[in-house]
Amino acid sequence: MDFQLKPLGLVQAATEKADALVVLVPATGADGKDRIAALIAAARKAGDLGDKPGKQLVAYRPEGIAATRVVLSAVGQGDAVAVRSAVLAAVQALKGSAPKRMVILFAGPADAVGVSAAVSAAADASYVYTTTKSKPEPSTLRQCVVGIDKPATLKSAFDTAVALVHGVEFAKEWGNRPGNHCTPTQLAEAARSLTRLPRVKCEVLGPKEVAALGMGAFLAVAQGSAEPLRFVVLRYQGAAKGVAPQVLVGKGITFDTGGVSLKPAAEMDEMKFDMCGAASVLGVFRALGELQPAINVVGLIPACENMNDGRAIKPGDVVTSMSGQTIEILNTDAEGRLILCDALDYAKRFSPEAVIDIATLTGACVIALGGVRSGLFSTDDALAEALHAAGEASLDRCWRLPLDDEYAEGLKTQFADVANVAGRAGGAITAAKFLQRFTSEFPWAHLDIAGTAWKSGAAKGSTGRPVPLLVTYLLGRQGAAASPATASGKRARKTA
Ligand code: BES
Ligand code: MN
Ligand code: ZN
Repeated sequence: MDFQLKPLGLVQAATEKADALVVLVPATGADGKDRIAALIAAARKAGDLGDKPGKQLVAYRPEGIAATRVVLSAVGQGDAVAVRSAVLAAVQALKGSAPKRMVILFAGPADAVGVSAAVSAAADASYVYTTTKSKPEPSTLRQCVVGIDKPATLKSAFDTAVALVHGVEFAKEWGNRPGNHCTPTQLAEAARSLTRLPRVKCEVLGPKEVAALGMGAFLAVAQGSAEPLRFVVLRYQGAAKGVAPQVLVGKGITFDTGGVSLKPAAEMDEMKFDMCGAASVLGVFRALGELQPAINVVGLIPACENMNDGRAIKPGDVVTSMSGQTIEILNTDAEGRLILCDALDYAKRFSPEAVIDIATLTGACVIALGGVRSGLFSTDDALAEALHAAGEASLDRCWRLPLDDEYAEGLKTQFADVANVAGRAGGAITAAKFLQRFTSEFPWAHLDIAGTAWKSGAAKGSTGRPVPLLVTYLLGRQGAAASPATASGKRARKTA
C-alpha cells in the first residue's frame, strides 16, 4: 500500500475523492460551517458519537462530500491508543466495500505518535497473507492518504511510520510462512535479499563454518534435522566504522517439534512461528535500510529446525557451547536457549554497545504476560529503561521481569556446568538466567516474545512485533554518545 501525507483541513477534505474518508473526531472542537463539520455537529447533537473513543458512524454518499463513504470515528482526547483502535475499527467496517483509496483525516490536532498509530493501524488492519494461496485475495487498498492541517512538522514521524510498516510486513511475511516454505536456507536467503538496501551487508554460514567456530549447542539442536542449519550475520553501517554497534540476536527455529521431548499435537502448527525473533531482526534491517539512521547495527540469526530423528539429541546429552561451558540437555524442547547461547557468545567479537536477543522462548512468558506485553530482561538498567520507553512510544509494549540469582538455582546439575531447564516455576525467568551466563562481556537485554509475536485462533498470524519497539529504540541511539544507555555500557555492569 502506498501512504501519503497531505495538508488537509475539514474544508479541503470534503472535496477529496476517495472510496472512504475516515474522520478521526476528537471529543471537542472540529467546528465550522463546512460539510464535514456539519456532519460531526449533527452526530454530536443526536448523541450518536459520544466523546469516548471507539464509537463510529458510517454515511454513504453524504451530500457535498466527494468521498463515497464517510466514517466518523471518535478518538476522545486523541491519544495514540484511541487513534489506533479508531482506525482499526474503521478499516474493519469498510472491508466489505473493498475500498481502493482511503483518506484518514485528523479532524482535531495531530501529533507524531498519533500519525504513527494511524499509519500502523491502517497497515495492520488491511494486511493479508497470500504467499501459499493458489488464488490469492490481496487487500484492495492501494492508497492511504493521511490528512493533517499542518503536516510539515510531522513529516519525519510519518516517514518513520511508513518504514516501520515495511519492516513489520517483512517480519509478518516470514513469520507466517509455513515451515516448508521457511527453511533455514530460505530464511537466510530472505536476509540476503536485504543487501539490495544501501549500507546493508549479509554473510551466511553453514554447518561446516559453525562447527569450526565450535558452536556445539547450536549444532546439537540442528543435528536432528534434514535441513542444514544457517547462521546469518547482517550488518547495517550508518555510522563510522569504529562506532560500537547495537547487536540484535533473533531466535530462528523454523519449526519446533520439541525434539525427543515431543510437543503435544494440538496447535503444534503454531511452532512455525518459532522464528519470529529472527523475522523481527529482518524487519528491523528492512526499516533501517529505508531510514538510513547514523548508527551501526549487527543482526545475528541462528536458524535451524528442532526435529525428532535418529540423530537427534536425547535428554541427558551433554554438549559444549562455543563459550566452553558444558550444557546438560534435560529437555530437548528448551532448544531456543541452546542456539541463542552460541550466538550471544559470537556477539562478543563486535565489542557491542549493547546486545538484545529476541526470542519466542517460553510458554511460561505467555502465562505471565499474555499477548499484550513482551517480557523484558536486562542486566543494565539504562538499557532496560530505553527499551521500555521505546515500547511505550511505539505501542509495542514490554514489561521488565527480574533476574535475581536465586532463580538460577534450578539450573544446577552434577553432569555439566549448567542444565538447559529448571523446574516449571518462573520458567521465563529461568530461561533468561540460562542466557545471562553467556552475556558477561556486554550490556544485555532479552525480549521474550512468545506471547506477542503471533495471534492464535481465528485471527491466527504473525504480528510483526517487536519491530516497532526495536526500531524506535535504535533511532533513539543516533548521536546518543552521552546518553544514559551508552554511558551505562561503559560502567561496571549490574548483575540483577
Ligand atoms: N518455542 C517454545 C516456546 C513457546 C511455547 C512459545 C508455546 C510460544 C508458545 C520453546 O522452544 C519451548 O518449547 N519452551 C519450553 C521450555 C520448557 C521445556 C522448559 C516451554 O515453554 O514449554
Ligand atoms: Mn521448544
Ligand atoms: Zn522453541
